[in-house]
Amino acid sequence: MNSSGLAHIVSFIIQKGGCGKTTTAANTASYLALNGFKVLAVDMDPQGNLTQHFGYDTDQIDLTVRHLMMKEKSFDEVVLHRSENLDVLPNNIETAAYEFSMYKTMAREYALRDVLEPLRNQYDFILIDCPPNLGIFSLNALVASTEFVLVVAPEFFPMRAIKPFYETYQMVKKNFNRTLKFKGVLMTMCDFRTRHSQEVRDILQRNFPSKLYKSYIRVNVTLKEASSAGQSIFEYAPQSIGAFDYQNFVEEFIRDHQAVQNKNQYYENKFRQLSPTEQKEILEFARKNLTQYTSQRLQDGEDDAILQQALIIERNKILEKLFPYRHHQTAENP
Ligand SMILES: Nc1ncnc2c1ncn2[C@@H]1O[C@H](COP(=O)(O)OP(=O)(O)OP(=O)(O)O)[C@@H](O)[C@H]1O
Ligand SMILES: [Mg+2]
Repeated sequence: MNSSGLAHIVSFIIQKGGCGKTTTAANTASYLALNGFKVLAVDMDPQGNLTQHFGYDTDQIDLTVRHLMMKEKSFDEVVLHRSENLDVLPNNIETAAYEFSMYKTMAREYALRDVLEPLRNQYDFILIDCPPNLGIFSLNALVASTEFVLVVAPEFFPMRAIKPFYETYQMVKKNFNRTLKFKGVLMTMCDFRTRHSQEVRDILQRNFPSKLYKSYIRVNVTLKEASSAGQSIFEYAPQSIGAFDYQNFVEEFIRDHQAVQNKNQYYENKFRQLSPTEQKEILEFARKNLTQYTSQRLQDGEDDAILQQALIIERNKILEKLFPYRHHQTAENP
């Protein structure tokens, strides 16, 4: 929860298809839930890919987020309890038929906000997966959100899609949601063996110097396999490159979150209280838990913030076993 004790509501958005929005929403939700945050994942795409990613058969689902937006059903009737800490508001193709009637009633921009607002004190994060267009469902997502993350793959020239998106963002901010925050840009499906990925990253870096996440998601077929198996990457293949990349991203994504800062500070303090020998041992263990490739780069003295962050994440996992951190514990009273 943020300082007001209410959930962050975050849209993963870009109007271009196949950029990794759903993969990012699903794996971010899963990682946060596995780390003790209460998460609601909202599928705003009638394709229902997020719903499927969590292992549900969309043809078998009768009640969806549409029924909530139309005020036909209650939240308790529609919500699916996926796993500990993770709830899902599903969607399916039938919602597509509803889009037209929403266009007719203009007040419907607030339909999703009206659904989510009363739930904000029940969750730490509400994550919204958006469809690949800037129609009424994406608009609803932005109106309901406290912030959004642009998800960009190097498959296309990103600024061409980002410019119209930016106009929509400004319009939403002006007319519907003054406090909507542009949280960051995540680059997915990177392959830095190709020049193109690096060029796109450079363009993003130039245009969004303070927004581009240092973490990025590499091309990794295991992410696709996990999705087909109806599991998050952390359930399907926690040792994969995909899990490593998403873990890094989510840690960066939540770094400014108060509860996370408290927890990281707690581990930082615990680490500092150890003797130099103990510190060294723990870091050696942490290195072993990194992939061979990452560990080698660290050993070579490569100065990359992501590598250092990855090592600290592993270090904190070890400290967590030694000095369990109770969630929602305060920094003053660790
Ligand atoms: N890093 C990755 N490496 C390899 N495959 C990936 C990666 N990320 C996503 N994929 C796969 O690429 C396809 C598109 O990803 P995804 O569905 O997440 O994109 P999307 O932006 O949600 O698409 P849409 O706009 O159609 O909803 C999926 O099959 C997914 O499993
Ligand atoms: Mg999608």
